[in-house]
Amino acid sequence: MDDQQFRQLLNHFQYSWSGYRKVRKGVKKRINRHMHQLGCRNMDAYLAKLDQSHKTRQECELLMTVSISRFFRDRKFWHTLEKKLLPELLEFRTGKVKVWSAGCACGDEVYSFKIVWEGLKKSYDNLPKLEVLATDINPVYLERARAGVYSAGSLKEVKKELISKYFHRQRSKNQYAIKTALAKDVVFKIHYLLLDPPGSNFDVIFLRNNVLTYYEDRLKKNALGNVLESLAPSGLLVIGSHETLPYERHDLVRVAPHPFVFRKRDL
Ligand SMILES: C[S@@+](CC[C@H](N)C(=O)[O-])C[C@H]1O[C@@H](n2cnc3c(N)ncnc32)[C@H](O)[C@@H]1O
Repeated sequence: MDDQQFRQLLNHFQYSWSGYRKVRKGVKKRINRHMHQLGCRNMDAYLAKLDQSHKTRQECELLMTVSISRFFRDRKFWHTLEKKLLPELLEFRTGKVKVWSAGCACGDEVYSFKIVWEGLKKSYDNLPKLEVLATDINPVYLERARAGVYSAGSLKEVKKELISKYFHRQRSKNQYAIKTALAKDVVFKIHYLLLDPPGSNFDVIFLRNNVLTYYEDRLKKNALGNVLESLAPSGLLVIGSHETLPYERHDLVRVAPHPFVFRKRDL
């Protein structure tokens, strides 16, 4: 498949070329295989199949997902979260803290959050109850997230002492499995970000490196609108460090020092 055909596919879904440009090699490979299985010789034939069958379309959508992630991606942000943002939140949230990792892929982000939260227990006698929801469109990634087994590469930003505290090293391979403390209070669930949010009143929402990177503006706006409905007043929205919001939101205020962290106005 050449780039022109690939762009045809992206246009069909309203996905963004700039989002997919760097990762297109792997995605094209998966789509080529799918086209071959369906007996499609060119993109026009493939797009016609996608229009004819909801199931085929869904298969294609899943093949277009990209699961690249790692623990503590954007390292400095996690430091700010631990030292400033969560302590500020804990000044006024006493009952329960609700967190949503939207488009969580294989769980690196959500377990990074859990490591930070567990660390806070040193400074707080009574942390509020925590509820973490981690969602993704792709059930295969969610299965991997539930299993919680990671390569050394995914953990390269995790300090050695935290690796020994929260992971078991697997004997046979250079892999690490999470200890049960990290899985506690985390629920994984399938959810499609263009549909209604899977909960309400979240104190922190991670919407990083998914729809705001891979979708065109109209879809980004729809997804963002849905997500923000479920953010509690004063709650935090965290997007990817290379991402921007598709439109000005007067209900969101940037939280220094990271331009990709926002607080919802308490109206
Ligand atoms: C590159 S990963 C990002 C993982 C993590 N948030 C991070 O920043 O490291 C993108 C994830 O978003 C998911 N995704 C993409 N579009 C989605 C949608 N419309 N609804 C739900 N999940 C979606 C993909 O399946 C993939 O697992």
